[in-house]
Amino acid sequence: MSIDAAKLNEFLGRAVGDLGAAVSATLMLVGDQLGLYKALAKQPLDSAGLAAATGTHERYVREWLGNQAAGGYVQYDPATDTYSLSEEQALCLADPNGPVDIPGAYSLVEATFHALDRTLDNFRTGKGMEWGEHHPCLFHGTERFFRAGYNAHLLGEWLPALDGVVDKLNAGGKAADVGCGHGASTTLMAKAFPNSEFVGYDYHAASIETARQRAREAGVDNARFEVADATSYGEGDFDLIAFFDCLHDMGDPVGAAQHAREQVKADGHCMLVEPFAGDKVADNLNPVGRVYYGASSQICVPVSLARKGPALGAQAGEARLRAVMEQGGFSRFRRATETPFNLVLEARP
Ligand SMILES: C[S@@+](CC[C@H](N)C(=O)[O-])C[C@H]1O[C@@H](n2cnc3c(N)ncnc32)[C@H](O)[C@@H]1O
Repeated sequence: MSIDAAKLNEFLGRAVGDLGAAVSATLMLVGDQLGLYKALAKQPLDSAGLAAATGTHERYVREWLGNQAAGGYVQYDPATDTYSLSEEQALCLADPNGPVDIPGAYSLVEATFHALDRTLDNFRTGKGMEWGEHHPCLFHGTERFFRAGYNAHLLGEWLPALDGVVDKLNAGGKAADVGCGHGASTTLMAKAFPNSEFVGYDYHAASIETARQRAREAGVDNARFEVADATSYGEGDFDLIAFFDCLHDMGDPVGAAQHAREQVKADGHCMLVEPFAGDKVADNLNPVGRVYYGASSQICVPVSLARKGPALGAQAGEARLRAVMEQGGFSRFRRATETPFNLVLEARP
């Protein structure tokens, strides 16, 4: 065995960086849930000032600040012994209505620890785990992480990239949001298109309850939410049927596509928003692919395998998704647009 010292140092450097990130994961939740990031976004503070502003204990806050500054998540000014957030850090860490919600994503990480025993069992046996069996932090983290992307892109880029959908929704159409979870995308669209009617479907009853509550809080009265499987909701005649970050999770994605084909109008549209991925493993060996393969092996694949599904995985890629939609009976399929985190695909009858 001959160890190459340069390669060893390079690998250890990477592993220690990752270890720092992993041990800081709970501290991200602490900063979020105790309002530490939000307070720092308002003004530079020392540890005593941050503790006073947030009703927390200074000794813990001082240690948290050291961790955050070492990781590059807050700025430290040694001259004044104060800490602050740059505009960019504040946008990602302290603005839940902004285009990126990094702390929200850490609730997904938390969910993987709650599910560890099941994950071990899944790897040994090939069994699965239903969406609804997860800790509720998964549902809230999913809402927050994905909502940020929808806030940033859905109305301004994704819907306009579909052929004529915005005109139909402005005039007064009917749209379904299948696998809607807490309904972040449904409520956003319903607010933007008050002449149209929106129905959110999800098989997870607790998520549908929350979706109803969110819509009420947003003052939206043109969106309804129903507990239903993607393969069997009762209504049809939709101008648009959307699947946001959920088709790859499903036990029967071809059945869901078939059902959408039956329930969409002859000149209607099906929109798939899916995690960004290339078709080959080698295309996805990058930081975004790493996040998605991680979530996929612990959340998405088990959700599909729990129903003996094909487990497309969060890195399914366009070619596999096209095959699913074509097997479901759609005849036209194209990549409408993309972001670093999402593929936006349009299927038409
Ligand atoms: C990753 S979450 C996405 C939720 C939501 N679309 C969003 O973007 O925030 C996947 C959702 O798909 C739902 N789901 C999975 N399989 C389903 C099925 N067969 N029928 C209906 N909903 C399903 C889950 O309950 C979960 O809410």
